[in-house]
Amino acid sequence: MTEHSSRIKFGSKFGIVAAAAGSAVGLGNIWKFPYEAGQNGGGAFLLIYILCVLLFGLPIMVSELVIGRRAHANVSGAFRQLSGTNHWAMVGLLGVITAFLILGFYFVVAGWSLEYVYQAVANAFERKTPMQLSQAFSDFSTDTFRPLFWTTIFICCTAFVLLAGVKKGIERTSKILMPFLIFILILLCVRSVTMPNGNEGLKFFFAPDFSKITPTVILSALGQAFFSLSLGMGCMITYGSYIRKDNNLTKTALHVTSVDTLIAILAGTAIFPAVFSLGINPAQGPKLVFVTLPSVFSHMPGGYICAILFFLLLAIAALTSTISLQEVITAYVSEEFHWQRKKVIVVSSLVLIVLSSLCSLSLGIGSHYTIGGKTLFDFFDFTTSKFLMPLGGFLISIFIGWFYKADEVKDELGNHGKLPVKLFSVYIFLMRFFVPLAILLIFLNELGTFS
Ligand code: TRP
Repeated sequence: MTEHSSRIKFGSKFGIVAAAAGSAVGLGNIWKFPYEAGQNGGGAFLLIYILCVLLFGLPIMVSELVIGRRAHANVSGAFRQLSGTNHWAMVGLLGVITAFLILGFYFVVAGWSLEYVYQAVANAFERKTPMQLSQAFSDFSTDTFRPLFWTTIFICCTAFVLLAGVKKGIERTSKILMPFLIFILILLCVRSVTMPNGNEGLKFFFAPDFSKITPTVILSALGQAFFSLSLGMGCMITYGSYIRKDNNLTKTALHVTSVDTLIAILAGTAIFPAVFSLGINPAQGPKLVFVTLPSVFSHMPGGYICAILFFLLLAIAALTSTISLQEVITAYVSEEFHWQRKKVIVVSSLVLIVLSSLCSLSLGIGSHYTIGGKTLFDFFDFTTSKFLMPLGGFLISIFIGWFYKADEVKDELGNHGKLPVKLFSVYIFLMRFFVPLAILLIFLNELGTFS
């Protein structure tokens, strides 16, 4: 059998969008985006973020889907096949390493979301002040065993879905639950916006203060766009390889990008008004969501049920993302080294239990072991978002813009002449010049070249 006919494909059109959106929507939207916005000037960050999504995110997502579907292979295989050389296959290896590092800290936060489901069921948020909630979060996240327990459970859930196979597992899970998450977020927004002083938060999040735009803000927004859209490490290449030949890739990328951005904005709208109303510090970092939203729930009718549903859906959104990340590793090892998928999933899960445990411990008893002044958790987060993913995006833009033939790209986007390809010249211009140059400038600036 040829590789083409033996690879599993996603089923329906909505299934493809749901699976890719399931990968994109996750802790990045609800946990990371709000705290990054809180630390990087609110409205200024939102503005730069949206620009990054349009100018980098969208064209790179289209490119990744094209590469994946054209080659019908894992990240490395795809680059090798399309370039005809082995050098480009290294990009795939880079993607796999990135996947391990992201999963290392992502599983920890996903574990936190499970703890919060448990606390919501136990009604633990009731009548607690933001101060107490903040203390409770710190006590929990720096504890030695409790976070490890939840993280391990989460890793097992991911392995379980992956073992069930691509189509049945990923597609079905994403399809049912995404609309639900949006619904609860909208309820939260309504409650948060109507809290006393809520409009201060709206102003903070939506009105850009241009003086707050700094190189750090730009790099953070760029990294966040890659992280949130699952770009720059081959995730969308892998998913692209499961997409059917008749799918309109440009539309799929547009839908996924819109849903992902909408959810991030909804999360910000649910959080910042409450942050200002309750006098919480918007720049406190990773605990922001875990302190703010429980407060909102305890101020809202039906808050008990909503809190349970919300954290459950957050965990599920995280699950559809961890599946996509670990699928990159699984497809790579099983196709490149001819291991059975099952074996790859079991072995990689064991490695990830170790990595995530180290990340979790680095917040508590291991916090004095640092790399460049950062805990392991922060180090993994920092290197992936601020370095490895933009680097991956840079290499993809060089590949599409300069190595691969534009005609071939156009042919794949147009389903071999069956669809009109609109704005192709804008897309190619972005990939050839804007994306690589802009990423290079941002990197050079970070290295202090211009100061
Ligand atoms: N985008 C997901 C989120 O927002 C995380 C994620 C899934 C990811 N797959 C990825 C990030 C690939 C980078 C690369 O939570």
